[in-house]
Amino acid sequence: MAIVSSSSGRKPPRRPEALVDPQPVPEEVVSRPEDKLRPQRLNDYIGQSELKQVLGIAVEAALGRGDALDHVLLYGPPGLGKTTMAMVLAEEMGVQCKVTSAPALERPRDIVGLLVNLQPRDLLFIDEIHRLSRVAEELLYPAMEDRRLDLTVGKGSTARTRSLDLPPFTLVGATTRAGSLSSPLRDRFGLIQRLEFYGQDDLEAIVERTAGLIGVTLTPQARSSIAASCRGTPRIANRLLRRVRDVASVRGGSSGAIDQALVGEALSLHRVDHRGLDASDRRLLQLLIDHHGGGPVGLETLAAALGDDPVTLETVVEPFLLQQGLLMRTPRGRMVTDAARSHLAEAA
Ligand code: ADE
Repeated sequence: MAIVSSSSGRKPPRRPEALVDPQPVPEEVVSRPEDKLRPQRLNDYIGQSELKQVLGIAVEAALGRGDALDHVLLYGPPGLGKTTMAMVLAEEMGVQCKVTSAPALERPRDIVGLLVNLQPRDLLFIDEIHRLSRVAEELLYPAMEDRRLDLTVGKGSTARTRSLDLPPFTLVGATTRAGSLSSPLRDRFGLIQRLEFYGQDDLEAIVERTAGLIGVTLTPQARSSIAASCRGTPRIANRLLRRVRDVASVRGGSSGAIDQALVGEALSLHRVDHRGLDASDRRLLQLLIDHHGGGPVGLETLAAALGDDPVTLETVVEPFLLQQGLLMRTPRGRMVTDAARSHLAEAA
């Protein structure tokens, strides 16, 4: 695979630096509303205590050695703070965080451009790392292991390999599908950590922190109700809080604290129940009950019936239902639990 085609052969070989395409680095530029709400340091990051402990020790040790942090793989359902944690790690290490995602690294030169622009100990964050192309992955192996970039220059019989030394750097990969990573890639991460759904107390603390940052006040019941309805997920908690603020500002009531009635109104407007299940969760459970006697039903069948993509169903919708004991995965397919039946009967 040619990164830059070689010249006629009569000219002296170009210096390795010149092999690199000077194109702008394909950093992801999408900014999300939650960007302003992200905690900056480990001490501000609420919850995930085991993860913080493990990474805190790794950071302190790396700083002590004056070396880059070891490569880190973060996995778990969306919205739990993988990107935030990568940014926090960069802040703790006092380095830059370059953020991208695997689908943006389609051409080899995309990843080459990122790697050669790294400063010593910088952190490169690759979201959805399970979607890396084969070539990008193969460029990453020696980069992660030996801080070396192996470039193939030229085509066919004139193809040659050139190696570039890279500065020490940290790759932080994030994925919702750890099982889809190839084992050579997974094996190159020194730290592999799972993010868990958050508990009620941590979610309440996150809601309180965000409310302070966006300038709203909540009664304790309102805060508790948002925390209970966000599927254990800070991104959803913060999103719900913004929807609650919308309802509060439309309903007037001026400057008082937002109460549980306003939260209830926002939740029912967005069809989120008190346990945090949304319309697609309920549709999935109801379909299993109404059309399949509660299951078991295979993932593909379920996805086709719901008009959903099986991967989204498996990685976005199901994890919370499984964690809540509302759904079971069995070798013969998905099944609803008695708890799901009672919840739906109660919510109906
Ligand atoms: N906002 C979103 N997630 C957070 C977390 N884990 N800690 C603090 N603030 C957050």
